[in-house]
Amino acid sequence: MGATMHRVGVHRWRAARALILIACWVTFQAAAQAVRDEDGRYYAENGEPTYHIAQGGQVDWYTFNGYRRYHAACHMCHGPSGEGSMIAPPLLAPLKAMDYAGFQDIVIHGLRTVGPAQQRVMRAMGEDQNVVCNLPDIFVYLKARADGALGQLRPDNHQPKPAAAALNEAACREASRPRR
Ligand code: HEC
Repeated sequence: MGATMHRVGVHRWRAARALILIACWVTFQAAAQAVRDEDGRYYAENGEPTYHIAQGGQVDWYTFNGYRRYHAACHMCHGPSGEGSMIAPPLLAPLKAMDYAGFQDIVIHGLRTVGPAQQRVMRAMGEDQNVVCNLPDIFVYLKARADGALGQLRPDNHQPKPAAAALNEAACREASRPRR
């Protein structure tokens, strides 16, 4: 008797849990979906920068650039496609939930976890123009990887570089030039 009731409860809970998961998944998918673009840069409904992959598999230029920048500045620690290494944790799972502001904060200021068993330190990269001036691009690349929208390979099928990209990068480099 008690066992039967218990089992019914478990079934209900399983059904509810499945519904909750589906609801979260739908919300999440909607959040990552690009709803508008400005000069080739795509944004999600919540205003966050995001990736765009067209029907034929062509990625937006910023996602492609993010791939290049990730491989120049992050992959030696976080692994060739964000899956982690002995030195640094994977980025794909945390990136699912992380917003751009949180991501930016970690990369610019660094992160340190000190415990009895281990000490993990990511140095602050806020002085590195190659990182700072391409940070939204690295973010959207990792989002695409985290969502499973993009594989591990270099996305060579990409949109041409928008004129705005070169201008913005030049302006960023000028603004963040170390002053002596
Ligand atoms: C020299 C090694 C190294 C490099 C290079 C590096 N990281 Fe890290 N990163 C780490 C370590 C170690 C941690 C874990 C820090 C901690 O747990 O406190 C970390 C943590 C992070 C986190 C937080 C992950 C989480 O679970 O919340 C993000 C996001 C991140 N790194 C992004 C980047 C990006 C983007 C780049 C390239 C621009 C980069 N990292 C380059 C070593 C590195």
